[in-house]
Amino acid sequence: MKDATPQPIRLADYTPPPFLVEGVALTFRLAPRATRVTSRIRFRRNPDAQAQDLRLDGEGLRLISATIDGVPITAQPDATGLTLPGGDLPDAFDWAAEVEIAPEENTALEGLYMSNGMYCTQCEAEGFRKITFYPDRPDVMAPFTVRVESELPVLLSNGNPSAQGDGWAEWDDPWPKPAYLFALVAGDLVAHSDAFATASGRAVALNVWVRPGDEGRCAYAMDSLKRSMRWDEEAYGREYDLDVFNIVAVDDFNMGAMENKGLNVFNSKYVLASSETATDADFDNIERIVAHEYFHNWTGNRITCRDWFQLCLKEGLTVFRDQQFSADMRSAAVKRIEDVLSLRARQFREDQGPLAHPVRPDSYHEINNFYTATVYEKGAEIIRMLRTLVGEDGYDAGVRLYFDRHDGQACTIEDWLAVFAEATGRDLSQFARWYAQAGTPRLRVTEDWDEGTGRFTLTLEQSTPPTPGQPDKAPQVIPVAVGLLGPAGDEIMATRVIEMTDTRHSLTIEGMPARPVPSILRGFSAPVVVEHAVTPERRAFLMAHDTDPFSRWEAGRGLAREILVAMVRDGAAPGPDYLDALAVTLSDERLDPAFRALCLRAPSEDDIAQALVDAGETPDPMAIHTARERFQRAIAAHMDDGLARAFIAMETPGPYSPDARDAGRRALRLAALAYLSRNDGGDRAARLFAGADNMTEQMGALGALLQVGAGQSEVARFHRQWAHDRLVVDKWFAVQVALAAPESAVETARSLTRHPDFDWKNPNRFRSVLGALATNAAGFHAPGGAGYALLADWLIQLDPVNPQTAARLSTAFETWRRYDPARQGAMRAALERIRATPDLSRDLSEMTARMLG
Ligand code: PHE
Ligand code: ZN
Repeated sequence: MKDATPQPIRLADYTPPPFLVEGVALTFRLAPRATRVTSRIRFRRNPDAQAQDLRLDGEGLRLISATIDGVPITAQPDATGLTLPGGDLPDAFDWAAEVEIAPEENTALEGLYMSNGMYCTQCEAEGFRKITFYPDRPDVMAPFTVRVESELPVLLSNGNPSAQGDGWAEWDDPWPKPAYLFALVAGDLVAHSDAFATASGRAVALNVWVRPGDEGRCAYAMDSLKRSMRWDEEAYGREYDLDVFNIVAVDDFNMGAMENKGLNVFNSKYVLASSETATDADFDNIERIVAHEYFHNWTGNRITCRDWFQLCLKEGLTVFRDQQFSADMRSAAVKRIEDVLSLRARQFREDQGPLAHPVRPDSYHEINNFYTATVYEKGAEIIRMLRTLVGEDGYDAGVRLYFDRHDGQACTIEDWLAVFAEATGRDLSQFARWYAQAGTPRLRVTEDWDEGTGRFTLTLEQSTPPTPGQPDKAPQVIPVAVGLLGPAGDEIMATRVIEMTDTRHSLTIEGMPARPVPSILRGFSAPVVVEHAVTPERRAFLMAHDTDPFSRWEAGRGLAREILVAMVRDGAAPGPDYLDALAVTLSDERLDPAFRALCLRAPSEDDIAQALVDAGETPDPMAIHTARERFQRAIAAHMDDGLARAFIAMETPGPYSPDARDAGRRALRLAALAYLSRNDGGDRAARLFAGADNMTEQMGALGALLQVGAGQSEVARFHRQWAHDRLVVDKWFAVQVALAAPESAVETARSLTRHPDFDWKNPNRFRSVLGALATNAAGFHAPGGAGYALLADWLIQLDPVNPQTAARLSTAFETWRRYDPARQGAMRAALERIRATPDLSRDLSEMTARMLG
């Protein structure tokens, strides 16, 4: 029977594990419907815990036998595990058990499952309990040995290979790890291999394992891995600690990738790339995600989380590290702007709605629902602010202490902050609020200028809006990087960081010869919304002169956002000031093409909706779409010549290279093409599509055509050309839905769900249609609610098969309270219909309950 009111798990209820594990030996006899797993586990009573029963988690396991020190147990498993009465247990004992599981029937892709005839596992967060009985909690760390028996040629697990024979292989992982980092892979796989020598001389064998036929598409992932390994040695002094490092590409995967010790498992879309099949964005993601998972070896694996409330300890830090890495590999300014764009698009949106939660939540029903933009991206922003506050040297000293002190441990945010307090002597107790308070702080800026005395005063005021369960917020520590420009555009005060700790803070500068122009929040020094009423002329001035590239971009962005908001309100048109300034940026050859491409990108429809909500208004998705379209047409009309010149000048002669330089040129070229298509009806795009020899240009051209309502023959051609390639077909599905006109988006999505290639149980494919529909704002929100109903139907269908992916996509509804009564009613009805579905998963139940409030 189902519990009517399931209780949440609470951080406050944490207790240490009553027993620790000294070692685990697992044997797998693989078979699709009846895999046998035997476990031998050495337990020892935890001297630091209170006497308690020992809970072994276990779900969907058929128990064959279990003994303690050779004596069969009498306890019977319930639906979620087994309880061994603590009083009856010796202080140290051997547990041995055999269970049977059916990987072929596992569609949730958590635990041991099958994908295209290959076995693989996904154990984070709580998947190991679907493999065998175990205390499945991250504060129980142990060395593992694994024996895999199967006729399949490649048999992999964590750690180093220790022995192998015909039909079996054994692996030994000496580093104590929590069960969520366990992994096993077995299949008919081929390796793209290489080697790496660590700084201290350890030889590491590197392999990227893929299905036969894909081995020619692994080079970039391998190259990214080697650069990540070197970078972590140079930037953080962290060396790799095993003899092998394996990456496996899997087609069926709920997330991006997983950092299992020595055996990272990846969604194949973040491994496989060739110039013909992958775009520049794909290459960029591969580099970033390979680095992210590799960096987890120290931040996550060697030092892990005490409990799942501490998820940001490993994720925020590892995202910050991958951002630093990408900034070093490419343009730091461009990387920062891209990171802020995605933070605003996903995390600010989350913080603004019913799913807002602290970076370290204090309760949950289903931990899988907390792999969020807030935990990851805002978590990374907190590390960035910490580094700004304690300085580079303080940061390095704190990080060194963290690795020295906590290696091999399962830690908390308190442990993390303590090393910085100790290394730098700073009191970080107020800073810790960033982990506890949800919501995006607002920073109101006002200026005061006294012409007579030359005194300039900047006043900052902070406030954080209420979020679910947190009506009142205390002031946070906000590092605000500020510079001043003179009236001629020269920098008269270099960047300095104001450390704001109170609700209100003023900075006064005396003796200025003329009124300075402040540049606020340079480099986006804190994840806040700046409210600063300035004239369009002021923004245009900063757009032309600010020495900080982020702020320069931000000035143009702010201008575009204001123009768009005005266009939505009263149908105004963008004035010549903005268009001229944009034209100057477009043709300024001193600026990195990638930066210019970002300046050309119009704020998204969802950005505009967020801006309207911030201004206390109700966004109309159709009006936003129309205004944004008119905005882009105005730019295209005004800048036709400059765009045409850029389109030609940014051609990249020679063979395709995914490096930042060529990728930046293509980004600018394709941004120009998207505008030009509004003038030439898509002629250039059609020609580029016909002649493209790389996926970046082929997709860019197709997108440009679809945006102007053309491209149907290209869509058909694209499918004929790429029907054999799963990852490219995903793109084919997604682009049609994402760029469909608002009136036809829902029908396009619906008809694609009937396409023979629509394999809805594959998460990438499901997302390519239903996820893409949610990104087509005007289409998804089209009057009548057909978009909401279609998504709800599919989430209800997917939930029993794959609750994790269904729950994740349900966030498309998180904005429902923003809208007019008709849309609110229809979105609410869709959510209620989902919630009322019999036997709904815990994942989707929690999400709908939180969204409905
Ligand atoms: N820990 C993985 C990562 O960041 C994400 C993940 C979570 C993957 C849960 C699978 C399941 O990088
Ligand atoms: Zn991660």
